[in-house]
Amino acid sequence: MKSNSVYTVEPLKLDRYSLNFYEALFHNANGYIGIRYDLEEGVPQEYNLIPSQYINGFYDTLEVKHPEYLHGFTQEKEIIVNIADNQGIKLYLGDEVFSMFKGTVLESRLSVDMGRGVTIREVKWQSEKGKIIRLKITRMASFYQLPLFTIDYEVEPVNFSGPVSFESTHNRQVCNYHNPDDPRTASEFLQLTTPLSCEVKEDGTSVEYRTKRSNLSVASCVSHSLFGKHEEEISAKDYQGSSLLKTEAKEGETIRLVKYAVYCDSLRYKNCRGQAEEEIKKAKSVTMDFLYERQENYLKEYWENCSVDIEGDDELDLAVKYNLYQLIQAVGKDRHSNISPKGLSGDGYEGHYFWDAEMYIQPFFTITNPAISKSLIAYRHTTLQMAKENAALVGHKKGALYPWRTITGRECSGYFPAGRAQYHINGAVAYSIINYYLATKDLEFVLEKGAEVLFETARLWLDTGNFHEGKFMLNTVTGPDEYTCLVNNNYYTNALAKYHLEWAVKLYKKLGVYDDFIKIKEKIALSEDEIEEFSRAAACMYLPYDEKLGINPQDDSFLQKKKWDIAKIPQEKFPLLLHYHPLHIYRHQICKQADTVLAHFILEDMQSEETMRNSFLYYEKITTHDSSLSKAIFSIMAARLNMEKKASAYFGESAKLDLLDLQGNTIDGVHIANMGGSFLTIVYGFAGFRLKEEGISFAPMLPKGWQGYRFEVCYEDSRIQVQVTEQECVFELEKGTPKRIRVYGRDYLLEDVLVIERNSSR
Ligand code: BGC
Repeated sequence: MKSNSVYTVEPLKLDRYSLNFYEALFHNANGYIGIRYDLEEGVPQEYNLIPSQYINGFYDTLEVKHPEYLHGFTQEKEIIVNIADNQGIKLYLGDEVFSMFKGTVLESRLSVDMGRGVTIREVKWQSEKGKIIRLKITRMASFYQLPLFTIDYEVEPVNFSGPVSFESTHNRQVCNYHNPDDPRTASEFLQLTTPLSCEVKEDGTSVEYRTKRSNLSVASCVSHSLFGKHEEEISAKDYQGSSLLKTEAKEGETIRLVKYAVYCDSLRYKNCRGQAEEEIKKAKSVTMDFLYERQENYLKEYWENCSVDIEGDDELDLAVKYNLYQLIQAVGKDRHSNISPKGLSGDGYEGHYFWDAEMYIQPFFTITNPAISKSLIAYRHTTLQMAKENAALVGHKKGALYPWRTITGRECSGYFPAGRAQYHINGAVAYSIINYYLATKDLEFVLEKGAEVLFETARLWLDTGNFHEGKFMLNTVTGPDEYTCLVNNNYYTNALAKYHLEWAVKLYKKLGVYDDFIKIKEKIALSEDEIEEFSRAAACMYLPYDEKLGINPQDDSFLQKKKWDIAKIPQEKFPLLLHYHPLHIYRHQICKQADTVLAHFILEDMQSEETMRNSFLYYEKITTHDSSLSKAIFSIMAARLNMEKKASAYFGESAKLDLLDLQGNTIDGVHIANMGGSFLTIVYGFAGFRLKEEGISFAPMLPKGWQGYRFEVCYEDSRIQVQVTEQECVFELEKGTPKRIRVYGRDYLLEDVLVIERNSSR
């Protein structure tokens, strides 16, 4: 990373909203565990914050009650579980206790250091009796040891000496967050675990508990190191551990307490309690400096492949770095987990995985860190059987239908018109496999984990659709725009299905050279005739087009509906889903998010530039962007269509969406898909990158006010650095063998460094 990678808030605001906001914004996560940022010493009870910590993919189930039940409705759903709260540390200075709400806060700042992988709170505080301390509290969710979370608590007594003690807690009594007024969060107050044991161990506490219905266990151990002479009393009562550590402070000499907390779950570990105890030992067998160094090294490698620098706009530069940092914090790195829309920063959307991962986040990993993309594909491969069962439940005779929202693979959406009916998720899963292939040419992996998924999902299009007057139609589905449900021939869905089917045919041929492909064909009974059908359906796929407007209508009936003037809707009525009945919304030409415009971004070769421009201008007027997944896509398409001003405006709002809480719900968790969108906008939008069968290409533009920007892409065995300035575009082969690249429509061989004059009208 070339520029600043520390995001800081100074001074800390202590109102309820701000603390709630920091919980999400400064959470620590490593793809396995996620801990929201709560003040260790606590806050006044009436603040009612959401101190939560999660394990990616660790869930319980809940019964879904439908007042009117119809066949196949979801009867049970999964929900991420809030696990033991290990954040509590109360600091006593003699008979006074530190609190930001008492005495005087003289200085305070909270930052996330994205190069070091830590959050740091620094406070200078004076107690009511005049004792002054400086605090530096460093928190880390380790990328090196995934179950480990540490709080490194340093206290400097500025003007006094005397007794100082820490009361550190290990609390299992946690509940899931809920808000009955917002369908994007859980609607009930839930405590999802029951305790199994709570013990005092050699130098800490250990708690194990079990989920109520899914019957999974999680063990959590806490231990401390207090440097220097001290006394320690450890106790456990009512399944709550507590450690009291007492020492003597000397004026000007820093006291340092490290709290180690580990979480191990029974999905990943056979003996999770034993493993948690081992993990504590492992963490304590090395120094904190060693753990910090490992953290930094991990991130160094991460940033080497994906850092983006923007010159000329420091705020945007930092916002994009913040977003990319959240992606590595969020992504699951094993077959049990994926990426949820809030990552591990909150229980908004109940920790479910959607299409967000495949369409918004995975494209980033595929061209910066393909190993992570592999693990995301492996997750879908693991859940293929459930996707087949889901398809059968809906009445399909063949194929797999991936669930709209899920943790382990079963459908968890309770409202099928805006859930299960979003068949385009199948296209998203296939798109991610095709993209992975295009970027890596790794056919072996496609064979191992991708092929079955790709063909089983392709089959579903045939079973869903039908030929009508020579065209292949897909009826009664919902596209990405959730303000228009259960329609015939959603353009996005049909276009993606066409692409999917075409690629199923191509990959069928390419995989034919592997002996093992025969086994897969036999296993899923895939015949040449079926492949023929794929070709025929793809070639005949109906893609709605309106001659008069020169646009692709979102679906067959979209243009017949009445319009709803967005400018006339009062500000407080957004997002519309919280204020209007779905039927009212569905009867209007109004979009929650990019739908046809998204299709044009990913599948530009299906339409002329003129159609895409007309569509962009048409849908722009009727899109509310109530979904955070929308603006980045409008920015990309505006950039591609040379609407520089619009591209920059949409990008600014998308890049800073969480830092400025522009969606108004960052407290439920940060918006991970949009964060992937920030990267896509710079690379696919501003730099005009394309990843296609014929190779990779660029057509960089420079947004007004920027002096330049820089990023990397991995392609096949190579890594290419791209630097764009006012005058030129510099491509540097940082790793790997020479590559053919196309820039502004001309072909070049990139062997070392290639400097090309920047074309201001691309
Ligand atoms: C969007 C979906 C998205 C979900 C989770 C909804 O608001 O409409 O497209 O998958 O959020 O991010």
